[in-house]
Amino acid sequence: MTTETLRAPQQASTPPVDPAAPILLFDSGVGGLTVLEEVRNQLPDAAVIYAADTAGLPYGSKTEAQIAARVAGLLGRMTERFHPRLVCIACNTASTIALGMVREVLEVPIVGTVPAIKPAAAMTRSGVIGLLGTEATIRQAYVDRLEHEFAADKVLLRHGAPSLVDAAEAKLRGEPFDRAAITGAAEALRAMPGGNRIDTVVLACTHFPLLEEELSQAFGPGVRFVHGAQGIARQIARLTEGQQWSRQVPDRALLTGRDDMPDIYGEMLTRYGLRKVERF
Ligand code: DGL
Repeated sequence: MTTETLRAPQQASTPPVDPAAPILLFDSGVGGLTVLEEVRNQLPDAAVIYAADTAGLPYGSKTEAQIAARVAGLLGRMTERFHPRLVCIACNTASTIALGMVREVLEVPIVGTVPAIKPAAAMTRSGVIGLLGTEATIRQAYVDRLEHEFAADKVLLRHGAPSLVDAAEAKLRGEPFDRAAITGAAEALRAMPGGNRIDTVVLACTHFPLLEEELSQAFGPGVRFVHGAQGIARQIARLTEGQQWSRQVPDRALLTGRDDMPDIYGEMLTRYGLRKVERF
């Protein structure tokens, strides 16, 4: 058999995508639901598996090596088990650290979530942008690169606000949450040199849009918020354009960690159309 004959099958066109294949949306917790909401708006027929690494939450206080190992390991196992047509890392912390690595190893299109510095730079009038993210996200070289590329002529003030992740998780579970942490985050940005001129704030953590109302009160009038959810959903729609959708099983959520996780999160997840909640 010649080399050409051996190669022939690989040159055949890519097989059509299985209409039942879902999109896999991944976050450390409930933050990725802000992305899911936009995916529902733009692709109402898309089958979705929402995966939350609740055993690893919060990612923001972990090291780069810990985050990369969890994200690559979990996405590898989930992709093998569920054969998604596309994976979305709906988490800024995981994306800014592990996106490149995951793209190297998984043979499925991967959409990441990175801080919306580009649109913020186009929106600001004062030239001073605030950025709220996790501690891990704000120190990433990926964020430095976005700043140099899109906001070199602006002032970008970064603040790591881990307690907002807890607040967003609690708010979504319908529990009391730490409102002082929200005012504290706004005050911390305002206290930086030039902070009183901030007119645009990048919500660089998928959990934070869940607190937009409270953040808006804390910053006061004249401050606009920007995050990536709409753009990410648009990118998912672009990459799946022309594909068929046929939901064969109810959309589900996968939660890592303790056995009682499905009970803790279950009701809230059904509000997002995730009718089955399983431990992974
Ligand atoms: N939702 C995540 C993000 O977008 C991180 C939350 C966390 O686990 O610390 O960065």
